[in-house]
Amino acid sequence: MDRRKFLSNLGTPVVAACAVCMGACSKSNSSGSGGGSANFTVDLSSQLLGVGSSLVSNGVIIVRLATGNVPASFSAVQVNCTHEGTAINYNAASNQFICPNHGSTFTTSGAVTLGPANRNLKQYTISISGNTMTVVG
Ligand code: FES
Repeated sequence: MDRRKFLSNLGTPVVAACAVCMGACSKSNSSGSGGGSANFTVDLSSQLLGVGSSLVSNGVIIVRLATGNVPASFSAVQVNCTHEGTAINYNAASNQFICPNHGSTFTTSGAVTLGPANRNLKQYTISISGNTMTVVG
């Protein structure tokens, strides 16, 4: 087999292998651990009434950290852990988010404080008008 024919025959398997690799790579990059975009409202006349209460909506966990219907009284971060995507919980006693799967912990603003997660949670912006909270990010 001459060199040109050899390289021509080599091309197809190499392209196929690259396509498989690229598919695998993009799959691992989108393993569900990133925070998606959100834009929704919460009725504060009936939800998140007590300090320490939380709710999950549109892939976001929102927690009431203090009294008063002002943005500083709340935290909104992606609900899926940045490690493998498990839904995190808010722990009022320690004032942090905890992943029940492997124990990663995050501050109320989403910063990692204990691994194995090594990326912060996405934080969403909260605005409030009357009893209507809007979560955007
Ligand atoms: S999925 Fe959260 S720590 Fe592993």
